[in-house]
Amino acid sequence: MSPVETLLLFAFFYAGQDTAGSFTDPRDSAALESLRNEWQNTPPSWGASIDPCGTPWEGVACINSRVTALRLSTMGLKGKLGGDIGGLTELKSLDLSFNKDLTGSISPALGDLQNLSILILAGCGFSGSIPEQLGNLSNLSFLALNSNNFTGTIPPSLGKLSNLYWLDLADNQLTGSLPVSTSETPGLDLLLKAKHFHFNKNQLSGSISPKLFRSEMVLIHILFDGNKFSGNIPPTLGLVKTLEVLRLDRNSLTGTVPSDLNNLTNINELNLANNKLTGPLPNLTQMSSLNYVDLSNNSFDSSEAPEWFSNLQSLTTLIIEFGSMRGSVPQGVFSLPQIQQVKLKKNAFSDTFDMGDKVSEQLQLVDLQNNNISHFTLGSRYTKTLMLIGNPVCSTDVTLSNTNYCQVQDQPVKPYSTSLASCLSKSCSPDEKLSPRCECAYPFEGTLYFRAPSFRELSNVTLFHSLEMSLWKKLDLTPGSVSIQNPFFNVDDYLQMQLALFPSDGEYFNRSDIQRIGFDLSNQTYKPPPEFGPFYFIASPYGFAGTTKGTSISPGVIIGVAIGCAFLVLGLIGVGIYAIWQKKRAEKAIGLSRPFASWAPSGNDSGGAPQLKGARWFSYDELKKCTNNFSMGNEVGSGGYGKVYRGMLVDGQAVAIKRAQQGSMQGGLEFKTEIELLSRVHHKNLLGLVGFCFEQGEQMLVYEFMPNGTLRDSLSGLFGS
Ligand SMILES: *[C@@H]1O[C@H](CO)[C@@H](O)[C@H](O)[C@H]1NC(C)=O
Ligand SMILES: *[C@@H]1O[C@H](CO)[C@@H](O)[C@H](O)[C@H]1NC(C)=O
Ligand SMILES: *[C@@H]1O[C@H](CO)[C@@H](O)[C@H](O)[C@H]1NC(C)=O
Ligand SMILES: *[C@@H]1O[C@H](CO)[C@@H](O)[C@H](O)[C@H]1NC(C)=O
Ligand SMILES: *[C@@H]1O[C@H](CO)[C@@H](O)[C@H](O)[C@H]1NC(C)=O
Ligand SMILES: *[C@@H]1O[C@H](CO)[C@@H](O)[C@H](O)[C@H]1NC(C)=O
Ligand SMILES: *[C@@H]1O[C@H](CO)[C@@H](O)[C@H](O)[C@H]1NC(C)=O
Ligand SMILES: *[C@@H]1O[C@H](CO)[C@@H](O)[C@H](O)[C@H]1NC(C)=O
Ligand SMILES: *[C@@H]1O[C@H](CO)[C@@H](O)[C@H](O)[C@H]1NC(C)=O
Ligand SMILES: *[C@@H]1O[C@H](CO)[C@@H](O)[C@H](O)[C@H]1NC(C)=O
Ligand SMILES: *[C@@H]1O[C@H](CO)[C@@H](O)[C@H](O)[C@H]1NC(C)=O
Repeated sequence: MSPVETLLLFAFFYAGQDTAGSFTDPRDSAALESLRNEWQNTPPSWGASIDPCGTPWEGVACINSRVTALRLSTMGLKGKLGGDIGGLTELKSLDLSFNKDLTGSISPALGDLQNLSILILAGCGFSGSIPEQLGNLSNLSFLALNSNNFTGTIPPSLGKLSNLYWLDLADNQLTGSLPVSTSETPGLDLLLKAKHFHFNKNQLSGSISPKLFRSEMVLIHILFDGNKFSGNIPPTLGLVKTLEVLRLDRNSLTGTVPSDLNNLTNINELNLANNKLTGPLPNLTQMSSLNYVDLSNNSFDSSEAPEWFSNLQSLTTLIIEFGSMRGSVPQGVFSLPQIQQVKLKKNAFSDTFDMGDKVSEQLQLVDLQNNNISHFTLGSRYTKTLMLIGNPVCSTDVTLSNTNYCQVQDQPVKPYSTSLASCLSKSCSPDEKLSPRCECAYPFEGTLYFRAPSFRELSNVTLFHSLEMSLWKKLDLTPGSVSIQNPFFNVDDYLQMQLALFPSDGEYFNRSDIQRIGFDLSNQTYKPPPEFGPFYFIASPYGFAGTTKGTSISPGVIIGVAIGCAFLVLGLIGVGIYAIWQKKRAEKAIGLSRPFASWAPSGNDSGGAPQLKGARWFSYDELKKCTNNFSMGNEVGSGGYGKVYRGMLVDGQAVAIKRAQQGSMQGGLEFKTEIELLSRVHHKNLLGLVGFCFEQGEQMLVYEFMPNGTLRDSLSGLFGS
């Protein structure tokens, strides 16, 4: 072979290929490269090296050349979660939280990630149903799919996730009932390691099966609020002795509250409000840890206030609005040591109201509007908010009727917000914000939700300072870098607030910081002070420093283009062939795969692959079939790049298939560059490119087959040797 010929052969087979040694397992490089092509706004370091593990791509963590973690929280990613992710077979942790522009349904191929133990897709824009294949992730311990647009039912297969301790499906549009196991199918009752069932804010319906709860369970949070559950509260709930938070509010539950709930002595929040419960008010005497109770808006029997009103020593908040209690309000409730708020409006309390002399220091609000109270004796010590408007006493007692007690009152005490008072009138440029340290910077912002705080009072500075401190300490920030603004109880009865985290120095966080902080919040690595209870966080998009999207050109691309150009020049000069730029729009490539989605011109739906004249996408299976399963008999050549096979397409066309071997794969973009180049070059003596395959970790190029000789012959013919 002449040197020129060798060079040409080299160029032909190696165009755009990695020639530098790669440390990352080629299957993982190929999968990451596909993701890079599939998603917009990947970090600039993606593609800047050809070795995602060695010269690391931000958010990619590796062990022994295999990708084990992908953490891309709040990167502004845009695109779909297709099957390519399934190529990262050693992945243990996947966090794509807070990328609202990741949309569409999630690929069942996620179920192939056998080693996955953490899967976090919270706060993205995913829709469609939850793939039942997720049930195959036997090592999964943390599954957060909350705050997306998932529809359909909860797959029973999730019951196979025997290592799961966190299951968060909240804030989607899931329907149907909660699956329990039968002799044939798994169900959620099999999740014996689960501590968290967060199914709130969906459209789940049907009755809650008594089979769902078992004494072997270790659940601490059951959040079923904001659904359409009907039927009775299952008595078997009383078996789950570990339970700390039970929220069944805002459903359509009926019947009496089973007395078995009283066995749940570890409960600190019980919310059964806004259902259609009947029978007597539940007896909560034994729930000695109870902080927060809401039984409002049900249809309980008319009764006097139950005795537990005065006995639950940990109670901070007692809410039974729109009830049917009568008789006098027991004094004991106002002297409970922790009590902050007593909200009993719209009942039928009557007679004399007397708070007594031992009113708790913590008490801030007593709301007794619209009852039937006819007499009032003010306890000597109480000076905080008391609402009596709508009681007969406000019209009969003339001196009282002129006091605040009988007026419509505003928000009693102003809620806490991080103070910027010490910054005086310092102001920042429009995009920047002022930190509590009085520096202008670009904070990482979002909304923080507490699903079951043990308190209701929002003015306690000590408490909120402890929250700020826990945030900067555990998120590895500095004092004065956390700002909390406007906490309030929202329509879902969650405590909601705006959170802004400021960089410790400089104006911006870098991507590693954002990925880390996003993960610490989405994986619940951060834990708030115990009073705040379970939380979730939804980040706002972050504007990184110098974000100029999609302008970086990777060395890989440059190598590919350079070698490709060399080939083109050789082709033109040495051989005298010409390359034609296709003028008319190429016909739409059939079934163009996801890695090449970026070929589609933006804003043109009829897109396809404009630079590709007729080069078509082949599936791996198609090529496997037409080469007799890549049999030896079909081999027509081999080299450093891999092997060439002869094959017959279904339409009878003979083809030569160049199949790259493991280790000589190129990145998706490089591969694309090569195909583009080859598909533009046409000459009678050069093999025409028929198509390509980029799937299941394979890269193949499909050429016209020359029956009377090998590629080498045809090239030799070119040189006339
Ligand atoms: C499952 O996870 C545990 C702990 O995270 C780990 O020790 C074990 O190797 C994992 N098993 C597989 C098959 O990945
Ligand atoms: C991944 O899981 C497979 C079994 O599915 C196991 O053989 C392998 O050791 C695991 N790898 C790691 C790194 O845990
Ligand atoms: C999710 O659903 C909500 C309400 O149906 C809708 O407003 C929103 O646009 C959807 N988001 C996406 C990304 O589909
Ligand atoms: C994965 O799950 C699906 C549906 O749940 C099941 O049909 C399939 O056999 C499972 N595959 C593996 C490899 O376990
Ligand atoms: C609750 O306790 C009572 C008596 O202590 C017992 O009879 C009942 O079976 C218990 N219920 C559950 C569900 O454990
Ligand atoms: C409530 O339960 C406690 C303890 O289980 C019991 O002593 C008390 O009598 C009950 N009260 C009512 C009104 O049933
Ligand atoms: C009870 O229902 C009324 C009327 O629908 C509503 O205004 C009130 O907020 C509800 N109370 C609670 C505590 O949910
Ligand atoms: C209010 O209390 C009076 C007695 O003080 C009683 O006659 C009346 O029926 C009560 N009204 C309601 C609506 O309960
Ligand atoms: C504020 O909260 C802290 C911690 O929960 C508590 O110890 C303190 O008594 C509260 N202070 C007031 C004034 O309520
Ligand atoms: C990101 O910033 C942190 C300091 O906030 C620094 O320690 C780290 O090295 C930076 N990472 C990169 C990749 O620049
Ligand atoms: C994720 O959070 C869990 C506890 O919520 C913790 O055990 C685990 O170590 C965390 N993972 C990482 C990588 O921090």
